[in-house]
Amino acid sequence: MRVGVPTEVKSDEYRVALTPAGVRELVDAGHEVFVQSGAGVGSAIPDDAYAAQGATITPDAAELFGAAELIVKVKEPQPEEVTRLEPRHVLFTYLHLAADATLTRALMASGATCIAYETVEDGRGRLPLLAPMSEVAGKIATQAGAFMLEKPLGGRGILLGGVPGVSAAKVMIIGGGVVGMNAAFIALGMEATVYVFDRSIDRLRELDIAFSGRADTCFASTLSVEQLRLMKPHAVLVDVSIDQGGCFETSRPTTHSDPTYEVDGITHYCVTNMPGAVPITSTYALTNATMPYVVHLASAGVARAVAESPGLKLGVNVAGGQVTYAPVAEAVGVAVAPVDEALAAIAA
Ligand SMILES: NC(=O)c1ccc[n+]([C@@H]2O[C@H](COP(=O)([O-])OP(=O)(O)OC[C@H]3O[C@@H](n4cnc5c(N)ncnc54)[C@H](O)[C@@H]3O)[C@@H](O)[C@H]2O)c1
Repeated sequence: MRVGVPTEVKSDEYRVALTPAGVRELVDAGHEVFVQSGAGVGSAIPDDAYAAQGATITPDAAELFGAAELIVKVKEPQPEEVTRLEPRHVLFTYLHLAADATLTRALMASGATCIAYETVEDGRGRLPLLAPMSEVAGKIATQAGAFMLEKPLGGRGILLGGVPGVSAAKVMIIGGGVVGMNAAFIALGMEATVYVFDRSIDRLRELDIAFSGRADTCFASTLSVEQLRLMKPHAVLVDVSIDQGGCFETSRPTTHSDPTYEVDGITHYCVTNMPGAVPITSTYALTNATMPYVVHLASAGVARAVAESPGLKLGVNVAGGQVTYAPVAEAVGVAVAPVDEALAAIAA
């Protein structure tokens, strides 16, 4: 199959969807790979590094989309990219369509088969293509919080780990999933006093073992979480879940160029694409997870790949002009079509 990797065009996006290692895997499996010139620059990967593994470097997006059948990206396609999509294309990328009816309808109109990273599941119902970005965001959350606690940045002026004779700062983490566990590991590494709240006792059990008792695990009841109201002046609140709307009444989305604002004396950090701050780490973390799926799609073709992988099948959001993922169909207000039927209609 001919696999294409465009340069990301969304603002502040420096990741790329394939590394030279991915090119090598695909070329060794007998596929052709096209990489748009400059696609890897934001992640410190020059064109030459792709070419050395057998990729053809294309000068622009028009040629890239023209040459490729399977298009691998990072962010949802921007309007100029949507216009380049055709029924012969398979698009594999983050889509987040439930929140974007306009994009969903545009992708339906393109006729392309669109597979969303964020709805692909593994055999245990986990989200393997979201997890790497949650790991990165969790680690950044503590780093960013620690930094914003510094007085010149408007923070309380307290060192997370304290020093001998002076107490450490307290870090309260609500939700001990992938983000929360990674945030806790960094906070523990910085020698803060750490509390992790979750509604799942099973998860708290797993965390207790993972932290070897170094963090307090707490059941998240309304009463226990209410102490947030008692946050000290110039404390810092990092709302990682802001990409899904956030979990605090006072949260609103911010960007890396202006990451914080203050409400009632509390610094809020609510950056929606936290992994974008560390594109080199994020590119490798993402592509390590996506690469086996890319190779499978390229080698088997989309119909056989989804028949062989029920988890990948859950990633198919749009095919043959129809929405094939129920939560997106419901959010956008269109009928859902079975994946197999939609793909069969394309093949016919
Ligand atoms: N801002 C960003 O750049 C960025 C990056 C990655 C992920 N995220 C977001 O971070 C959030 C967490 O992602 P994740 O991968 O860790 O998810 P996850 O499913 O692994 O973890 C969520 C955890 O929260 C717990 N939980 C749910 N409701 C709760 C409640 N009311 N009180 C306490 N705990 C509760 C769950 O039991 C689970 O353990 C998601 O909203 C995700 O979209 C944001």
